[in-house]
Amino acid sequence: MAIVKVKGISKLYKRHKGFFKKEKILALKNLSLEVKKGEVFGLLGLNAAGKSTLLKILLGLISPSEGEYEILGKKGDNITTKQKIGFLSEEPRLYPYLSAEEFLDFCGKLFKIERKERKKRIKNLLEIVDLLNAQKIRLKEFSKGMIQRLGIASTLINNPQIIFLDEPLGGLDPLGRKRIKNIILELKRREKTIFFSSHILAEVEEICNRIGILHKGRLISLKEISELKKEGESLEDFFLKTIKRENIKE
Ligand SMILES: Nc1ncnc2c1ncn2[C@@H]1O[C@H](COP(=O)(O)OP(=O)(O)O)[C@@H](O)[C@H]1O
Ligand SMILES: [Mg+2]
Repeated sequence: MAIVKVKGISKLYKRHKGFFKKEKILALKNLSLEVKKGEVFGLLGLNAAGKSTLLKILLGLISPSEGEYEILGKKGDNITTKQKIGFLSEEPRLYPYLSAEEFLDFCGKLFKIERKERKKRIKNLLEIVDLLNAQKIRLKEFSKGMIQRLGIASTLINNPQIIFLDEPLGGLDPLGRKRIKNIILELKRREKTIFFSSHILAEVEEICNRIGILHKGRLISLKEISELKKEGESLEDFFLKTIKRENIKE
């Protein structure tokens, strides 16, 4: 079953450049894509490829200029869908004066989860992201890796059917990346559907079932990781080869 269906989405940004001038950027070009239940899907692409734009559209934060999408069988931006999904933005900024526990409690309240159930879920989530020992510490004391881990925990508070993560590995040191990788692998074992963007290929190769390569707003490749393995090619080689071929075409 397809949890996410994207059909012919384009996004044109218009940016003011001085008083009369407008700059137009076609950030997504006629993009179609499906993500199936239980899949861990990695959206890869260089900086400015359009990854965050696609995620923001799927979350209803911005609207596409053309095309349509469905999440969990419901079209477009839909409030009931939002209760069943989780989202972590690129470089999340969480409330510095709350503790990890208070922050998750706040997130749980937004979904109107009752107190006892909230407590249970918070403990469970802090355990998954290995922050039980830091639950009383204020977030302003947290490292980037800890913030990222707590951010992932917060996307799970409503027990979502799919989570969207925008560059969850971005800006982390190797240890930080390894911990996020392990969390995503754990969620994969629990059969969560995950749609995330990244350009950190080594980790992506270990985490994903399938990848899509976005290049200058166009989806230029979709590939099963198992297929790559059969072909004996590393994701890094495949990615660079695919992008190079595209640049020659232009
Ligand atoms: N709000 C915006 N207004 C104008 N242009 C934007 C806006 N957001 C993104 N862009 C442009 O759209 C392109 C894709 O950006 P983005 O989706 O953030 O890429 P990625 O996440 O892959 O780095 C870039 O050229 C970027 O400058
Ligand atoms: Mg981005």
